[in-house]
Amino acid sequence: MKVKLIVAKAENNAIGKDNDMLWHLPKDFKFFKNQTLGHTLIMGRKTYESIGKPLPGRKTIIITRDKNYEQKGCEIANSLNEAINLVDDNETPFIAGGASIYKQALEMDLVDEMIITEIDNKFEADTFFPIYDATKWTEISREFHCSDEKNKFDFSFVVYSKFL
Ligand SMILES: NC(=O)c1ccc[n+]([C@@H]2O[C@H](COP(=O)([O-])OP(=O)(O)OC[C@H]3O[C@@H](n4cnc5c(N)ncnc54)[C@H](OP(=O)(O)O)[C@@H]3O)[C@@H](O)[C@H]2O)c1
Repeated sequence: MKVKLIVAKAENNAIGKDNDMLWHLPKDFKFFKNQTLGHTLIMGRKTYESIGKPLPGRKTIIITRDKNYEQKGCEIANSLNEAINLVDDNETPFIAGGASIYKQALEMDLVDEMIITEIDNKFEADTFFPIYDATKWTEISREFHCSDEKNKFDFSFVVYSKFL
């Protein structure tokens, strides 16, 4: 099974503040949808609650330590490993954050590919993408997008594959 990680991060690795997103980039929302539609999203309880509902067309697995936690239309796991075990063998799970789940997935060496929207701006934040060993990853594609009326910042969709 190939495990992918998907994140949008700023130049200073900022990914969130007050359990919310830091920017509004409709092109990135569309990209996220195209990448993940028909697949499985694995996310921490805080990220799920900031979204507030299961995203249509995707299986959502929420990770929490709360054994009684329930959310309609979602599956619940009490650890990252348990979440991965809920994914069918022929399925591609996407590690969809937040910071604590990204950190654990990278430390546990679970991720095969990282799909990163790199935003060309710094943001004041309280949540950051973890520092990881860049020598273990190779860039396999990069697509630059200029800011426009609806997307305030320049950004790039970048895919990194793990060196084998
Ligand atoms: N820019 C992006 O692409 C992006 C993507 C996703 C999220 N975000 C942002 O990231 C922020 C949220 O990140 P976060 O790190 O604060 O929270 P999070 O990772 O979304 O959720 C943390 C929660 O996950 C559960 N959890 C974590 N590790 C666990 C483990 N090993 N076993 C069982 N449960 C575990 C715990 O839930 P319980 O407390 O219920 O036990 C913990 O409180 C928000 O600002 C959000 O907007 C940004």
